[in-house]
Amino acid sequence: MTRLILLTSGKGGVGKTTLTSNLAASLAEFGENVIAMDANLTTPNLGLQLGMHLTPHTLHDVLKGKSRLQDAIYPHPLGFRVIPSSLGLDDIKGVDVGRLPEISFSLLGKADYVIMDSAAGIGREALSAISATDEIIIVTNPDLPAVTDALKMLKIAQEPNIKIIGTVVNRMKGEKHELMAEKIEEILGIPIIAEIPEDDNVALSIAAKKPLVNYSPNSPAAIEIKKLAAWLSGRKYEKIKSRRSMNLLQRFVAWLTK
Ligand SMILES: Nc1ncnc2c1ncn2[C@@H]1O[C@H](COP(=O)(O)OP(=O)(O)OP(=O)(O)O)[C@@H](O)[C@H]1O
Ligand SMILES: [Mg+2]
Repeated sequence: MTRLILLTSGKGGVGKTTLTSNLAASLAEFGENVIAMDANLTTPNLGLQLGMHLTPHTLHDVLKGKSRLQDAIYPHPLGFRVIPSSLGLDDIKGVDVGRLPEISFSLLGKADYVIMDSAAGIGREALSAISATDEIIIVTNPDLPAVTDALKMLKIAQEPNIKIIGTVVNRMKGEKHELMAEKIEEILGIPIIAEIPEDDNVALSIAAKKPLVNYSPNSPAAIEIKKLAAWLSGRKYEKIKSRRSMNLLQRFVAWLTK
């Protein structure tokens, strides 16, 4: 059975795209059959984060009826598949975002997981993404504006046919002024399923166009994302056993985070 999971947020820039690419890579590493889809049509970044931003066919083309869906599904070297969206401003014109559910639900039976990245906020595009999913993960940062916006999004997403899996709190710095996880849980009223730390390796992995879990598998954020992927798929998280594939710095980080 295919699980259709959307990563959404009220506020922009909280880490949805980063989580989408990394959850897809982590689940694929566990042997799951995964499709990552960029349902953020106005500011798409998934293809860019994965080095797949110049593909001949995109989700935009599919939504416009110019390409077949199967032609816009590309294999990623890490073993999952990607449906990228177009970075071109012109490609947004004439896109029918209302067709997103038709596209996503047509993927049922074609993978174990379809992980969808959404645009932030409660605009038409983000709302259409919500109607295109069965399950939702809310992504936020540990600050009041992000959590307040997440609450708005959560209220909109509370539909009888949608399962809200929980909240991922990303970019936790452990600073005094941050909202504590317990407080966020109390405000949103749904469980926190991951607390991902602020990690400079994220920006480095994005610059390298590789998912963090592959670029720096034992970095603090990668470990928390892999734990989340393990939990989502009912596995027990285990750290990478083979140290041979790690460079000296990664081995040092692995030793530090043991
Ligand atoms: N755990 C982290 N530690 C440090 N930086 C992070 C972390 N997670 C994300 N970032 C940084 O935050 C920025 C925004 O991340 P991302 O693009 O994934 O957010 P988004 O929610 O998809 O944004 P948008 O709403 O614009 O689509 C990126 O530059 C990324 O490097
Ligand atoms: Mg994004």
